[in-house]
Amino acid sequence: MTTEEKQREILKLKRELDAIIIAHNYQIPEIQDVADFIGDSLELSRKVSNLENNMVFFCGVKFMAETAKVLSPNKHIYLPNTEAGCRMADMVNAESLRKFKKKYPGAKTVCYVNTTAETKTECDICCTSANATAVVNSLDVDTVLFVPDGNLASYTQTKTSKKIIPYPGFCYVHNLITENDVEMARLLHPDAIVIVHPEAKLEASKAADYVLSTGGMVKLAKETAKKEIVVGTEEGMIYRLQKENPHKKFYPIKEKLICQGMKAITLDDLLSSMRNLKYEIELPESIIEKAYKPIKRMVDLK
Ligand code: 13P
Ligand code: SF4
Repeated sequence: MTTEEKQREILKLKRELDAIIIAHNYQIPEIQDVADFIGDSLELSRKVSNLENNMVFFCGVKFMAETAKVLSPNKHIYLPNTEAGCRMADMVNAESLRKFKKKYPGAKTVCYVNTTAETKTECDICCTSANATAVVNSLDVDTVLFVPDGNLASYTQTKTSKKIIPYPGFCYVHNLITENDVEMARLLHPDAIVIVHPEAKLEASKAADYVLSTGGMVKLAKETAKKEIVVGTEEGMIYRLQKENPHKKFYPIKEKLICQGMKAITLDDLLSSMRNLKYEIELPESIIEKAYKPIKRMVDLK
């Protein structure tokens, strides 16, 4: 089958199943083109909590599909490839988080949404890259444990008067983005603005013009009068930015910023997932119940 034939078949199955296809901004172009909704982690969480469809084919990484399941436990949520994982989310688990919390009695815990549902059961509230500062500031304590992304924690520390204790996790893709990359980009593209994701190294975030979630990048790219933008995040982001802003130029801040988990899902996987109704996300009820509170608190935060 050609790409177009597969895409047509996917759209036909979607109608027959009355399903919805949701995709993260880093998904491959062929998947983005058949998705009903594309967004960042927060946008996807919000979208899922307001869905009418009973079947959701979630093209992203596992923690995102799990978050969807926790928010909509009666819906069937499918992750088309079981290899679609987030390596940062695997850097902490419920047990290591319990040990971390024991060292700081009285502190409250923020789990970056890039954690497993089980890890989330141990935190007070979740956050994404789009709302980390607001989430930290919403807590009624002065000391906040921030798990697992150390770079996002350090960046958020520059925006709040609360004391943030970072967990030593990181994203192996964004951690490659350095201050030097920002400076090089400015030399190569003197007319461009430089935007980076807050999972990048803190010095890179400080040197950039804007530090944004992937959803924030989509918005800024539309609104700015600038015609050239250097993009400091996973390379899949460029496809959507370029498609929605054909008259602007987008440059990756460096080569090979590729998240294997995000790239795991292919059109064949999605087609097979829809034909065979696999792989459905299943979580124990006790985990859904406990993880719901911190996720819902985040989703409800204005
Ligand atoms: P966003 O929430 O900004 O889309 O980020 C998710 C992510 O995994 C970034 O690496
Ligand atoms: Fe996880 Fe990094 Fe991939 Fe985002 S880019 S899903 S944080 S490994």
